[in-house]
Amino acid sequence: MTISKVMIIGSGQMGSGIAQVFAQSGFTVYLNDINEEFVKRGLKGIQKQLARSVARERLTQEQAEEIFERIIPSVDYTDAKEVELVVEAATENRDIKLSIFKQLDEITGEKTILASNTSSLSITDIAAATDRPDKVVGLHFFNPAPVMQLVEIIKAIQTSDETVRLMEELAGQINKTAVRVADSYGFVVNRILVPMINEAIFVLGDGVAEAEEIDEAMKLGANHPIGPLALGDLIGLDVVLAIMNVLNNGFNDPKYRPAPLLKKMVEAGKLGRKTGEGFFKY
Ligand code: CAA
Repeated sequence: MTISKVMIIGSGQMGSGIAQVFAQSGFTVYLNDINEEFVKRGLKGIQKQLARSVARERLTQEQAEEIFERIIPSVDYTDAKEVELVVEAATENRDIKLSIFKQLDEITGEKTILASNTSSLSITDIAAATDRPDKVVGLHFFNPAPVMQLVEIIKAIQTSDETVRLMEELAGQINKTAVRVADSYGFVVNRILVPMINEAIFVLGDGVAEAEEIDEAMKLGANHPIGPLALGDLIGLDVVLAIMNVLNNGFNDPKYRPAPLLKKMVEAGKLGRKTGEGFFKY
């Protein structure tokens, strides 16, 4: 099967970034969300990034326009009839994801692959909600998707080898490097990275150092491009908490206990960059 048209569900920072990646590689992309306002916001973000690439002379104005024109706004799942691949990047909530996959399973052609960009939920569980579990797979991008090189391909118990092979081929077509991962909570990167961010929040809560100092220490002492607290703000502290909860509940191991200060930040609505404030102000 040749994949040339894809639908991305969710036009938030991950969904719009993934849409940009596919459009830049020549795919026709339906960018779907629950209302036109959300889709417009996602498209605006993509336009901004493309304009930046033009300003930096990585793209010509003409190329940027061509890329943007390949992205079709969508507020109707029935558009998924047209595509060979759907990448779901909706809210990190099991019930929402299961409902989306059930609907897509009914709407899309029988060969269409249904992928989830979930950062930690079970692909095996999502696959079981459909009548095509062999064609359900995890395709996990990293934020910011147009910049980050990796894509984790998560094989659920039911995912066929052919689906995984197609996704590996696809990763090459969109200029990403794929790593094949078994379906286990947090997969590889988030299981290692998110507890590190959580630990940085414990360090802050314990008064060991201020936020700026913690980040400076990790940048200069461990060669990280940004500090763990700034990274939490980039990912979204609600997402960080959701991932810690999945690890904690999934492995039932207290080493994954979310930091109390992380819970408080989320309760206060200080979610990071997307709300203008997290551990830092934006
Ligand atoms: N979209 C597209 N491009 C972006 C971008 C975005 N949202 N943000 C930054 N960039 C690009 C910029 O265009 C810039 O390139 P140019 O200067 O050539 O234009 C380049 O990235 C560097 O950006 P900045 O100079 O603004 O800032 P920086 O040097 O700090 O780099 C960064 C930004 C690439 C995000 C870098 O800080 C970094 O690599 N941080 C770590 C990111 C990371 O670990 N991500 C994984 C998070 S975990 C995850 O996503 C999984 C999950 O499920 C939660």
